[in-house]
Amino acid sequence: MHEFKYINNHLYCEQVKIEDLVKRFGTPLYVYSYHTLIGHFLKLRDAFKSVNPLICYSVKANSNLAILKALVDKGAGLDIVSGGELFRAIKAGCPAEKIVYASVGKTDKEIEEAIKKGILFFNVESTQELELINKIACRLARKVRVAIRINPDVEPKTHHYITTGKLTNKFGIDFETARIIFLSGREFPHLDISCIHIHIGSQITESSPYVAAIKKVVSFIAELRKREVRLKYLNIGGGLGIVYDKETPQTADEFSKKVLPILKNSGLKIIMEPGRFIAGNSGILATKILYVKKTPLKKFIIVDGGMNDLVRPSLYGAYHDLLPLHKTGIHLRHTKYDIVGPICESGDFFAKDRYMPHVKEGEFLAVMSAGAYGFSMSSNYNSRRRAQEVLVAKDRIFVIRKRESYADLVRNEKIPPFLFGL
Ligand code: LLP
Repeated sequence: MHEFKYINNHLYCEQVKIEDLVKRFGTPLYVYSYHTLIGHFLKLRDAFKSVNPLICYSVKANSNLAILKALVDKGAGLDIVSGGELFRAIKAGCPAEKIVYASVGKTDKEIEEAIKKGILFFNVESTQELELINKIACRLARKVRVAIRINPDVEPKTHHYITTGKLTNKFGIDFETARIIFLSGREFPHLDISCIHIHIGSQITESSPYVAAIKKVVSFIAELRKREVRLKYLNIGGGLGIVYDKETPQTADEFSKKVLPILKNSGLKIIMEPGRFIAGNSGILATKILYVKKTPLKKFIIVDGGMNDLVRPSLYGAYHDLLPLHKTGIHLRHTKYDIVGPICESGDFFAKDRYMPHVKEGEFLAVMSAGAYGFSMSSNYNSRRRAQEVLVAKDRIFVIRKRESYADLVRNEKIPPFLFGL
């Protein structure tokens, strides 16, 4: 599943001892395994090879240029949600015709840039957006490919913050409105509406919500075909869950067995947009234990990484396994600790009431499965410099983002002259 393993009680990433990395580069430190990253991409590609899908890795999961280039070089396209992600995608060398662009709030400028680059699809989330893209395409004298993002109203059984395919969510267009768009005879002369897109949520561990959603859209596509509306692509989004704790998510093969028969029925070219499935287990966050503190009621392990580095536990109550980089002494997890960061909020934690082995100040922990929505959601809160990122491939080590400096923190700030009495 991933290439983070103990050898002689030391945690390794591929062939590199992670303790050597933290001693060399400091902490908090994101460490990624190149072969785990690529391995997950290939697993999905192989499971779906009979339909040869375009797999557009979802940039938001981990947008480091090196991660993007590694995947693009293996044939991945990219799924983007902003002008910034478009900039990254192009910089990483992704061909524009392999880029798909979702987001409920694309601005005029973002739309124009993406049209000019010639992306594969805008995944359109409202009638208003459809009209705006048509207008901008007209001004630029271009014909633009768009997908209608359908909100299929299914329950993906995940955290409500990352549920996106129910009608109470802001995403996508309901079937009735989509029917009007396709069948009302209303012309969008500058649009080629040739794809249907769905994305029902994230960290989905069962195939059944996908099956339900895909069945709904495939029967909609059949209805459209009968009425002479012919589509070319079907984009089934991302959302495949991974193991953080005791989950048993569907494997790529199990997933493809469930959905391929229905997809083949559609007769359309398939697009997918996985993020977490590819990047999630390919990264860890290494952090140093600063203090072990006991209060009358609790025991705390205070580490140098915080919610600004990895916000998932604070934001979603997400579980991340915590492993010592060096297993010493007794490994039994007999004492309960809260593992917390240095930030001035009680919401700043990596784990609560977690049984941990005996650990000491100066030792290091790995926050596991931090490759997706880890660094990409990090911030400078508490004026903390964002972490360094390194990529490991076998015994080779590459710094793919250096640690921010204090100067980086204030780079774009200006004190107005009047505050100097001028
Ligand atoms: N496509 C669209 C349109 C999306 O909105 C997303 C994720 C994906 C694809 C990729 O989903 P994935 O395969 O990675 O599940 N920050 C949250 C996850 C937010 C997901 C947002 N959209 C977390 O840390 O769990």
